[in-house]
Amino acid sequence: VAPPANSAAPRADAHRFRAVISRIAEEMAALPDHGTPADYIPMLAGADPRRFGMAVAEPDGTVYGVGDWQQPFSTQSISKVFALALALSLDGEQIWRGVGREPSGNPFNSLVQLEYENGIPRNPFINAGALVVTDRLQALTGDAAGQVRELLRSESGNDAIDFVPEVAASEAAYGDRNAALAHFMASYGNITLPVPELLSAYFRQCSIEASCADLALSAGFLARGGIRTDGSALLTRSQAKQVNAVMLTCGTYDAAGEFAYRVGLPGKSGVGGGIIAIVPGVCTLCVWSPGLDRRGNSVAGVSALARFTTLTGLSVF
Ligand code: DON
Repeated sequence: VAPPANSAAPRADAHRFRAVISRIAEEMAALPDHGTPADYIPMLAGADPRRFGMAVAEPDGTVYGVGDWQQPFSTQSISKVFALALALSLDGEQIWRGVGREPSGNPFNSLVQLEYENGIPRNPFINAGALVVTDRLQALTGDAAGQVRELLRSESGNDAIDFVPEVAASEAAYGDRNAALAHFMASYGNITLPVPELLSAYFRQCSIEASCADLALSAGFLARGGIRTDGSALLTRSQAKQVNAVMLTCGTYDAAGEFAYRVGLPGKSGVGGGIIAIVPGVCTLCVWSPGLDRRGNSVAGVSALARFTTLTGLSVF
């Protein structure tokens, strides 16, 4: 069990990955193609694909980074990890009645599997599965998005983390896909809330802005066997293992196999260009670069994580 953040005396090996991430930042600046920012959420389309930040958080709460590591960005689907952790902590195994834990092999916003799998989405990280998780969290707490924001604030120590109403509105304005997914699952009884209430909670959750530093710290419980910064347990050791496993197999959608092959860590991406990755027992990483590949994952983000595991030899394999 790690001590609370910021209470430990400085360790001799603190910041041990600083040289590695500085080298990676230089390499990423030289990438020939940084991809294209998401354009289906107009508020995200204007981002500069050459921006790059990377942060490392160690289990004792030490955090450091390179480039734009303190720049807030739209967390988008990264928020799905925190929503799942909260739902698991409140609801336990029940959550798996409405959502599976197999890779989908399909894009994150795909509808196609839902009909022949009776309205049960493959996993909690595609949009359909995340909608089921947020539905459950909203039903249990009355404020799913607020709970996710609170978890990020308390684990990062940054009370400035917040929703961006313009981003939530931008998504709602172009939200026909998510609305279709939610209504379709509701027709199978796998959504309990009125769909407009669910979508509003989901878009607010996705609109949360946080930096690489904030997210690397916030994901720390997944590197500490479920233990929060204050020493209490958000998840059991076994549940933390389960969340990490689902991140590895499903966290980057139809690119999860390629991500495991190149990076070899549990990871979760978002269309804002962020990716969190967990080295259990060692550290958590967050990278941000808004240019995406065609599957919605940050080009420089995936490359940077691949370089990190290659240069350090740290991966789950
Ligand atoms: O629902 C959506 O489409 C977005 N709020 C989140 C999608 C996302 O981040 C997928 N990530 N790569």
